[in-house]
Amino acid sequence: MDIFRIQGGRPISGTVRVSGAKNAALPLMAATLLSEEPIRFAGAPTRLVDVQTMGRLLVSLGTEFTERRGGELVLTTPTIEDTTAAYDLVRTMRASVLVLGPLLARCGQARVSMPGGCAIGSRPVDLHLKAMESLGARIEVESGYVVARTPPGGLVGGRVVFEKITVGGTENALMAAVLARGESVIENAAREPEIVALVELLRAMGAEIEGEGTHRLVIQGQDRLSGCRFEVPPDRIEAGTLLCAGAIGQGSLTLSNCPVSHVEALVEKLREADCRLKIGEVNGAGIGEVTIDAPFRPRAVDVTTGEYPGFPTDMQAQLMAVMAVAQGRSMFTEKIFENRYLHASELVRMGGDIHVEGRTATIRGVKRLSGAPVTASDLRASASLVLAGLVAHGETIVRRIYHLDRGYENLEIKLSKLGASVTREAE
Ligand code: UD1
Repeated sequence: MDIFRIQGGRPISGTVRVSGAKNAALPLMAATLLSEEPIRFAGAPTRLVDVQTMGRLLVSLGTEFTERRGGELVLTTPTIEDTTAAYDLVRTMRASVLVLGPLLARCGQARVSMPGGCAIGSRPVDLHLKAMESLGARIEVESGYVVARTPPGGLVGGRVVFEKITVGGTENALMAAVLARGESVIENAAREPEIVALVELLRAMGAEIEGEGTHRLVIQGQDRLSGCRFEVPPDRIEAGTLLCAGAIGQGSLTLSNCPVSHVEALVEKLREADCRLKIGEVNGAGIGEVTIDAPFRPRAVDVTTGEYPGFPTDMQAQLMAVMAVAQGRSMFTEKIFENRYLHASELVRMGGDIHVEGRTATIRGVKRLSGAPVTASDLRASASLVLAGLVAHGETIVRRIYHLDRGYENLEIKLSKLGASVTREAE
């Protein structure tokens, strides 16, 4: 298992490019099961372990997977050879459940291992299953597997009403509805940029969908979908993490290929914290340059996580690291996941003054964190500990970096290029 060794206290400066988005790439890859023709992706974050895991899962179902240089992926599934998403793959990545909708839509049946619990809360898939039932599927749970079947003739268009907003649930419902017979409506749909990217891909494949970016999606089912070429958008969470590296590292940092409008909630918080943020030229797809200039110690700000366009739960841990050394007291409220403060106790071991009570965390900024051996508990918690290590006095060792490798491409290389001292070592 790899660790990161970080020597803290080096200012962060320079320019760094944001990679393709993990959370967009995973549903986009799952959607390729819907067509027998090749789907070509540009800008895919191919080095991420989660992207490789999704690739392995798709290959196990019958996909031909070709990886070219520079983030190009070609996925072709002439026939589905197996409709089972096996426990070994699903266990390591919850997003594997995203193959349920496409398998059901294309083959009329699917057997997907239940993802089970994970470090940041129980995270059930009940809403995914209800959505499939609303489109005519029959669902049973057998020996730890969700077994789903459509009526003869396949899925039928229907009304999916989510009682709670779910990103993955909306994605699964969309991918099922595009090949269902007739019209489907998804109410209380998620509005995240990853949903918009998925709709754009499905449309390029020939699907008819309206309403992306709103809470109501209307889909006219098609008989078949075709191949296409598609550019994976840049990762708003990686961009946000790098902006936090600038904020904590007293630096002047420029991000290129930044999904500017997707990081607005964080930019607003960082401005409130007295960081100076400059937005450069932005292209038609909303992608451009963002520069952050950070003060000696940012000002404390309060944060409540929420669905998009609210403050992303996936940025809560990283901003908490910044607030751990801010001037003043911040209050964090985590509204999306229970038990998503596992990084707090590790930040305390580095000298942070943080108290967690249920879904609230109170952070009193300290003048100095000190380097310590710490253990990463999940993907974004790992990033938070790395950020804290950048500013801590002395050496920080972050263990269980495999969490980080699921969602950050070459983070240690990117941070080193910006002046930080971060090295990867085998434990
Ligand atoms: C996605 C993201 C994840 C992000 C999360 C919230 C991917 C691969 N992952 O996860 O990084 O943190 O959105 O922005 O894109 N829920 C249920 N039943 C269900 C499904 C969800 O109760 O069937 C609950 C969850 O436990 C959670 C809330 O709904 O409390 C939102 O979860 P959801 O939006 O589904 O998150 P994911 O799609 O798993």
